[in-house]
Amino acid sequence: MGIVVNLEGGKRDAASIKELVDLTAADMGRVNELILSKAGSDVQMIPEVANHLISSGGKRLRPMLTLAAAQMFGYEGEGHVRLATAVEFMHTATLLHDDVVDESGMRRGKKTARMIWGNQASVLVGDFLLGQAFRMMVEVGSLEALDILSTAASIIAEGEVMQLAAAKNLDTTEDEHFAVIKAKTAALFSAAAEVGPVVAGAARTDRTALRSYGMNLGLAFQLIDDALDYGGSSSDLGKNVGDDFREGKVTLPVILAYRRGTEQERAFWKKAIEENDADDAALEKGIGLLARHAAISDTIGRARHFGEIARDALAPLPATPQKSALVDVIDFCISRVN
Ligand code: IPE
Ligand code: IPE
Ligand code: MG
Ligand code: MG
Repeated sequence: MGIVVNLEGGKRDAASIKELVDLTAADMGRVNELILSKAGSDVQMIPEVANHLISSGGKRLRPMLTLAAAQMFGYEGEGHVRLATAVEFMHTATLLHDDVVDESGMRRGKKTARMIWGNQASVLVGDFLLGQAFRMMVEVGSLEALDILSTAASIIAEGEVMQLAAAKNLDTTEDEHFAVIKAKTAALFSAAAEVGPVVAGAARTDRTALRSYGMNLGLAFQLIDDALDYGGSSSDLGKNVGDDFREGKVTLPVILAYRRGTEQERAFWKKAIEENDADDAALEKGIGLLARHAAISDTIGRARHFGEIARDALAPLPATPQKSALVDVIDFCISRVN
């Protein structure tokens, strides 16, 4: 399977996710089979569109969290494979929808589905995958898991709508921005991690530990993703760098540089973000301003902070290979920028 972020090639993050990949390899084999079979439909266009995105890989981070979190509490049944697949389907559906909302052209190193089949097909196939995700949750039969994941599905949509409502608004505060990323990204990480102990019948404190781990990991993950949009490489990321700027998205690096900038600089941001005057020259200037105000390094600093909270959430749990792998994921997410 193609993994978009290059895990080999001597990157510093090479080892970080390996433990998680190894521990979940057997289960992930079954998840990947289930992904393919549940993306099937007699309506030909559905597997065509879905498989375009699915076959491009992705890190499969969220389902691995579910699997490891279930293993961690000694789960020996089959339900975690279905829940992990449901989690990845929710993520895939979200990406199909998000690329329509963001008018994005590239995802996982390929043209987005919307560029090939159009926005309507992307939205509808996303809906199909979401439906399939819920059917799998029902098959598992845990009302608690269904509650956690269906709540996350609503919250993700709320986060995307919140972001839409705040679009191009440079007065967005850092708190408001955290509320958006908590909903659109961290809620799924949190649910993915929490359903592990839930399906394993673990204690309530174990559930809350994993929920908190996932939430804070998700916040860190999205903050790093926002930093990478200004400094990563398109080929590593599998999506175009600078998209957020061109789309007038107000992410944390911009919030910080705008707040810390001179009046003249704020006028620049307004023109770029609010009036869509965001060509390559403007992007270059913007990147210069982000550096001047330490906006990228402070965004990474915020991510590290949430990463520490995630680490401490797991601290009281007994030492297991799964725990150590989940701790490594925090470093992996943060070291993506280095
Ligand atoms: C992309 O998530 C969406 C964000 C929350 C930024 P991933 O970076 O996990 O996407 P894939 O699945 O690996 O492509
Ligand atoms: C990712 O959001 C999709 C969701 C989490 C809903 P973004 O729009 O910030 O991420 P990319 O850059 O498209 O992956
Ligand atoms: Mg997007
Ligand atoms: Mg988006």
